[in-house]
Amino acid sequence: MGDHVRITAIVGSYRKGGIIDTVIDEILASAREEGAEAEKIYLIDKHIEFCTNCRTCTQQEGESRGQCVIADDMSAILDKIERSDAIVLGSPMNFGTVTAVMKRFIERLACFACWPWGMSAPKVRKKRKEKVAVVVASSAAPALMGRLMTKTVSLLKEASGLLGARTIGVLFIGFAATEQRQQIGERTRKRARRLGKKLASSNPVQVTSHSSRA
Ligand SMILES: Cc1cc2nc3c(=O)[nH]c(=O)nc-3n(C[C@H](O)[C@H](O)[C@H](O)COP(=O)(O)O)c2cc1C
Repeated sequence: MGDHVRITAIVGSYRKGGIIDTVIDEILASAREEGAEAEKIYLIDKHIEFCTNCRTCTQQEGESRGQCVIADDMSAILDKIERSDAIVLGSPMNFGTVTAVMKRFIERLACFACWPWGMSAPKVRKKRKEKVAVVVASSAAPALMGRLMTKTVSLLKEASGLLGARTIGVLFIGFAATEQRQQIGERTRKRARRLGKKLASSNPVQVTSHSSRA
């Protein structure tokens, strides 16, 4: 990874200016201050169809992602991610997991697995993780409860892995639904900015894990 890190952030919240969006903005702003180039993609603005389980994309062998037969915005998003050094995946926790729009995106990552007919389980195409990732989640519940009792974070980490990224930081924001237009607190902002710096620096080795409140 060079000194000019390219970051693509995927926002899985329905609310522009909401908690997830704001935290991701802080991460990207601090990364940019360190010289990184960053782009944010709102899944709600994109045309993303459901994976239909046709498994066409999983039939080919090899490390390159399989070709999906659906013509929508997904392949352009994945091209962008593949050209990046780092990613941010963020989603509120709804009904104990990621949002529907984030889940729809994640199911379309089947193309990063090889799963020919006749094979009982998929195999991730690329074992090497050349990118780094930060995952962000938020909940009405206390952060620790959301983190420990649901699969929200593990799902986002699994998605990062499929996209070729090793998760180097997790930010889980609890008590994130007390006001209609809730601001993030100073601690959350600082943690977001620290993670942005970490993403912008090359090959961080340690996972930073935070639970905080909005
Ligand atoms: C449909 C729906 C389901 C939700 N389910 C949960 C839940 O299971 N647990 C929880 O702690 N918060 C839940 N919440 C609260 C959201 O997690 C919270 O509003 C969100 O993290 C705020 O992020 P945002 O500002 O980016 O939208 C839910 C909210 C909605 C609208």
